[in-house]
Amino acid sequence: MRILVTGKDGQLAQSIHSITALYTAFDFIFKSSSELDITNYQLVAKEFKKNRIDYCINCAAYTAVDKAETDAEKAYNVNVVGVKNLANACAENEATLISVSTDFVFDGNSNKPYLEKDFTNPIGVYGKTKLEGEQLISKLLVKHFIIRTSWLYSEYGNNFMKTMLRLGRERDELSVIGDQIGSPTYAVDLAKAIMTFIEIKETNYGVYHFSNKGECSWYDFAKEIFAQSNIEIKLSKITTEDFPTAAKRPKYSVLNSSKIEKSLGIEIHFWKESLKQAILNLNEN
Ligand SMILES: NC(=O)c1ccc[n+]([C@@H]2O[C@H](COP(=O)([O-])OP(=O)(O)OC[C@H]3O[C@@H](n4cnc5c(N)ncnc54)[C@H](OP(=O)(O)O)[C@@H]3O)[C@@H](O)[C@H]2O)c1
Repeated sequence: MRILVTGKDGQLAQSIHSITALYTAFDFIFKSSSELDITNYQLVAKEFKKNRIDYCINCAAYTAVDKAETDAEKAYNVNVVGVKNLANACAENEATLISVSTDFVFDGNSNKPYLEKDFTNPIGVYGKTKLEGEQLISKLLVKHFIIRTSWLYSEYGNNFMKTMLRLGRERDELSVIGDQIGSPTYAVDLAKAIMTFIEIKETNYGVYHFSNKGECSWYDFAKEIFAQSNIEIKLSKITTEDFPTAAKRPKYSVLNSSKIEKSLGIEIHFWKESLKQAILNLNEN
């Protein structure tokens, strides 16, 4: 079984890379954006033919949410054209595509965790491009899993946890948004769930949600990061209005992950438990 992982230098691909030793029966091929630009169909098609790919885990994405508002063409190119290229290459080679998407496909006006079948209505360019990518995959390819996740963090790449730990060392006080609610998700937990689809040869294709259990605001998340790391800092809560950004963010983007738990037979950790593991791993590295 040969697995192609795109976006090698991103945090999710690095999280998958960190657990490959658990899956010795599989051959992994990791490709960075310079080694395999997913927006170039010729390159993608060649990669699939040359290496006889069985599964493609797409971790490549344009993820700069604010920048996407003024750089829509680039975001579209990666999140829509790139994803379309992977779906077409999978279809031609009878491979399965596992592509990662986002809670930002929802507008955040709900007050209960979003189900896979809930109405999508992205409020920014990033979410719109990710949704269009999802729609193309389901149109072009039967053998696909679209996994929506939220608030990813890990010991790899750039993310909220690492930014807070850095700011916690540099500053005595910090203000963090307290009126956006979501579920922090440890990228290594997501990586394991993705690998389970392959391990158990799941064939119930379609959209799945994966987030760590529980919900909180960015303020609560920051507070917990500092508490678990024994960092003393004066933390205050601000509102979305106090901290304007180029892109609007959903106010509430908690995902209901029951479907993936049932299908894969896994038990998802609560976010505070996974945060503990991430901080431990970060300190060990
Ligand atoms: N981060 C989050 O909080 C979050 C939340 C919900 C969903 N997601 C989704 O989760 C997935 C993984 O996110 P992540 O946090 O791992 O993102 P990330 O750290 O930003 O990594 C994305 C990777 O994609 C690569 N890439 C960009 N354009 C490419 C192209 N044309 N061809 C090949 N590779 C390209 C980037 O390479 P370069 O750096 O070289 O450009 C980067 O290494 C994405 O689909 C994202 O939309 C993320």
